[in-house]
This record gives sequence, structure tokens and C-alpha cells, in this order.
Amino acid sequence: MRLSLTTVLTTLIVAAGVNTAQAEGDAAAGEKVFKKCAACHVVDSDQKKVGPSLQNVIGRTAGTTEGFKYSKSMVEAGEGGLVWSAETIGEYLKDPKGYVKGNKMSFAGLKKDDDVANVIAYLQQFSEAAAEGAETGGEASQ
Ligand code: HEC
Repeated sequence: MRLSLTTVLTTLIVAAGVNTAQAEGDAAAGEKVFKKCAACHVVDSDQKKVGPSLQNVIGRTAGTTEGFKYSKSMVEAGEGGLVWSAETIGEYLKDPKGYVKGNKMSFAGLKKDDDVANVIAYLQQFSEAAAEGAETGGEASQ
């Protein structure tokens, strides 16, 4: 039971990594986009600022970083099953207020699809779950 769940999860994570590799995000460009997030978020450590650390955010259930005081809305979104992936972060960043109603991230959102794809590629470099999948995808496509 436990073993098969692990297998399923690994398959999903690898599949997600391959998909996002195909989304063609450019991590170097994403680092520049991340400057907009850096006032409130740290990505290369588990330190919190105004917002929670985004280290290992890919694969994390929304609202669950230890030690960060999330809004009730974000915690409820996680309890309702929201898990951060390239896809869900993309939707959130395009419309933070609309995607998780009542959450307290005061950020208007990213208008350009490229910026969204690139910043997610950048975030993935700091997420173990994504890095494992991305490695597989990277080797296959290069
Ligand atoms: C003005 C500060 C601010 C800016 C700028 C900002 N954020 Fe946030 N972010 C927050 C806060 C505060 C939260 C927690 C929201 C809550 O609890 O309702 C959050 C939450 C998040 C979450 C959910 C994390 C979790 O653990 O559930 C993600 C993902 C995220 N932000 C990504 C980004 C990205 C990527 C950018 C830049 C494109 C960005 N944020 C810009 C303040 C900010």
C-alpha cells in the first residue's frame, strides 16, 4: 500500500517535471522576474519575510510552511486540496486575488505568460521534487 503510493507519487512528479520542461520556462530570465517577489519571498533558504519561503514550494500543499502565519483563506485552500505545481502557481500568479480568494499576498500578479513560465522555471531550481523531474526531462530533451 505504502509502496504503491510512493510509486504513483514518483510517477506524477516525474511527469510534472517533463511537462514543465516542455513549457520552456527560462530560469535565468526568471531570476530577474523573481526580483518582484524578493521583497516578500526568499527562495534559497527556509527564511520567511512578509511572505513564506518559496524553497521547495513545488509539491507543497498551500499554506503549510512551518512557522509562517498564513491567512485563513490560504490554509483553507490547502485543506481543500490545493498543491503548488507549475500549473497551480501559474494560475495563482496571473491572478493572486482571484485564484485564492481572501489570501493576503498583496501582489497584483504577472501579466505576461513568459514572465510566469520563467519565474516558475526559476522556482523549480529550488524545489527538490521539481529538480528530480526536471533532471529526467532535461536529459531526455537535450
Ligand atoms: C507584497 C509581498 C509579496 C509579493 C511581492 C509576492 N508575494 Fe507571494 N506571498 C505573499 C504573502 C504574504 C503570502 C501568504 C499569503 C496568505 O497567507 O494568504 C504569499 C504566498 C505565496 C505563495 C503560496 C506559498 C505557500 O506556502 O502556500 C506563492 C507560491 C507565492 N506567494 C509566490 C509568489 C511569487 C512567485 C511572487 C513574484 C512573482 C510573489 N509571490 C510576490 C507576499 C508576496
